[in-house]
Amino acid sequence: MRFHYVCTDCGRVFETEDLMYQCPDCSKKNDGKTFPYGNLRVELSESVLKAAREKEHVTADDFYPYPSEDPSLYPIFTTPLMKPERIIERLQLPNLRFKLDSQLISGSFKDRASYEVALQAKALGEKKIALASTGNAGAAMSAVGAAMGLDIILFVPETAPVNKLMQSVLYGAKVVPVKGTYDDAFALSIAYTQLKGGINRNTAYNPMTIEGKKSVSIELFEQMGRKVPDAIYVPVGDGCIIGGVAKGFDDLRKAGLIEKVPRLIACQSDASAAISNAIENDDFRAIEASTRADSISVDLPANGRAAVRAVKASGGWAVRVSDKEILSSQLVLTKESGVLAEPAAAAAFAALEKDRDHLVSVLGKEASITVLLTGTGFKDMKAFDGAVSLPESIENSVEAVKALPF
Ligand SMILES: Cc1ncc(COP(=O)(O)O)c(C=O)c1O
Repeated sequence: MRFHYVCTDCGRVFETEDLMYQCPDCSKKNDGKTFPYGNLRVELSESVLKAAREKEHVTADDFYPYPSEDPSLYPIFTTPLMKPERIIERLQLPNLRFKLDSQLISGSFKDRASYEVALQAKALGEKKIALASTGNAGAAMSAVGAAMGLDIILFVPETAPVNKLMQSVLYGAKVVPVKGTYDDAFALSIAYTQLKGGINRNTAYNPMTIEGKKSVSIELFEQMGRKVPDAIYVPVGDGCIIGGVAKGFDDLRKAGLIEKVPRLIACQSDASAAISNAIENDDFRAIEASTRADSISVDLPANGRAAVRAVKASGGWAVRVSDKEILSSQLVLTKESGVLAEPAAAAAFAALEKDRDHLVSVLGKEASITVLLTGTGFKDMKAFDGAVSLPESIENSVEAVKALPF
């Protein structure tokens, strides 16, 4: 067996590679009011970890429950690790780097999870995948589905940004806008797979989403010359990305390739800070999220409990930023590094800007810091409405050129 499952709450072991979503005991406790219980974690077998340990270089495939036979069918390529010189200067953090996951094919980090779920579907002989999404996961799953010949059924809150929805429509997914919130769409997509079959890709609900997301940490390890950063700033909504980041480092540690997991810094909007509340105050209740950063606007974080445990175990912490700070950091990012990030992704950079002195007090100025920029801003230019506008046209004359003040 290549893997088995373990319940992240009660620790019950499930010695199977069959399709599984949740621990049947712990998930009974879920009431929709506090962070859900019963998410499953994939544990790789000792032989898989040993094989990785012995390789000169590893890739995510060495750690996937469902490795790809041909990774070029939908490449999860090594995303750039950028040295943002002017920002380094501004923050006086010489070893700061940006991990540009906005460069993945559909424009966000979510390609990572979607790809592994597509490999799961292929391995299990399934053709249909259903999911709920605020936009990026849906677009990513739809793109992978288009490339790999899978039918994608996508439930979205009708308020999701139009470009992200259009993307999914263009990729050929069956898009079902829901008159309700993301959490409502989440519940309906589960009802769909229970009634009509197929695999459900909901974030954290399907443990393979975490397995796909962990690829970023394995990639980073090789990209940094078989080292990991001291701290990583991750934008957080459901807590699935940060859970995946943690899982990747944990697998590397279990394989004996690293000794210590980087500090995981959970970056949230102060108007959607359920996981921060849990990290800081042991408060695991649902909230009413209202941030403009739609991708991290979550009332009841699907991977909340595991994310909180991972952040605490790493010696990390939470940082909350306002929507105003997010927008201002988006503008700094574009003007001083050339990276156009969507609001949720920029929240990680906004958190670093806000947390800079505290970070230095804990790890020192020379610490190696990665900011995970998870999604491109091209999908959501409306975020800049009111902040920037297009200049007026000039007359078609040389005089008008002479009169330009620059
Ligand atoms: C661009 C981007 N950043 C961050 C997140 C937050 O990830 P998670 O909800 O797993 O915490 C998302 C999730 O949709 C996203 O699309």
